[in-house]
Amino acid sequence: MAINLKGRSLDSLLNFSTDEVKYLIDLSIDLKKSKYQGLQTLNRPFIGKNIAIMFQKDSTRTRCAFEVAGADLGAGVTYIGPQGSNFGKKESIEDTAKVLGRFYDGIEFRGFAQKDIDALVKYSGVPVWNGLTDEEHPTQIIADFMTMKEQLGELKNKKVVFIGDIKNNMGHSILIGAAFMGMHVTLCGPKTYHKDIRKDVIKSCEVLFARNGGSLTLSDDKIKAAKDADVIYTDVWVSLGEPFDLFDTRIGELEQFQVDMKMINSAKENIVFLHCLPAFHDDHTEFSRDIASKFGSKYPIVKNGAMEVTDEVFQSKYNKAFDQAENRLHSIKAIMLSTIGY
Ligand code: CP
Repeated sequence: MAINLKGRSLDSLLNFSTDEVKYLIDLSIDLKKSKYQGLQTLNRPFIGKNIAIMFQKDSTRTRCAFEVAGADLGAGVTYIGPQGSNFGKKESIEDTAKVLGRFYDGIEFRGFAQKDIDALVKYSGVPVWNGLTDEEHPTQIIADFMTMKEQLGELKNKKVVFIGDIKNNMGHSILIGAAFMGMHVTLCGPKTYHKDIRKDVIKSCEVLFARNGGSLTLSDDKIKAAKDADVIYTDVWVSLGEPFDLFDTRIGELEQFQVDMKMINSAKENIVFLHCLPAFHDDHTEFSRDIASKFGSKYPIVKNGAMEVTDEVFQSKYNKAFDQAENRLHSIKAIMLSTIGY
């Protein structure tokens, strides 16, 4: 079936079909090959086009992926940072969207509320790409399942475990991605978090599981969850934009859910470890040193600055998080190319 995504926005992955998600993953793989072969330097389909990338929160991967993908395609790229505009402060989202829609051929947005991205879609009149909201991280998901496909081949019936803060945007996004791929997904975190997984997302994913295969399991035992797993995925315990004060409670709730070698050794032999990054795995950041000094005696698992994953796992052959980070570039290029059109 021919896929045509021209004019579409990637606000939520749930607005796409299984064929469309698979198409984006396959196109990302093709564009990666083509960049490696130097072919993209010959063809810049976005010459004369411009994109805006708007961030209410900081970013390394998402920002750089949009900037480099834009440059590879020949587009002009305008970065608008958390302090760089009146968006949502002195000017409404609707009015900003109407202005940007007249300047740009596409808009990336990273913020908090999903309704802000909905307003950008409604009022800008150009494709809008969700670069992370409180609810979802859909551009990340295309890179994540692209990486899984590169590592594992066919994904149907494979098992992915997302462990840690399973009620956050990444937990929900991995659930959605797995449902499109027909994978078995286990969300592993404290029992008290299980009720906070959004019912509307579970309902939509159940429809996809019925169609594509795969299933959802909830667990609060990381060793049992890891059994037969092909992929173990985690994310930071306090998300971008959440207050630092939350760390004390979160470490207390999640200390049993750190990815360590015991968990890795309970999974399949060639387990793939993924993390959307940035990761706290050692004391090489100001932030993790601060956490270690404040909470290291109360919670010994964080005394070396590692939180959601041990440094041993992070430095191991199982860690494919840097392939995954590179794939943000190729997948964001695929998303821009197919939704703006060429
Ligand atoms: N994974 C991710 O979104 O990274 P950044 O916050 O650096 O964009």
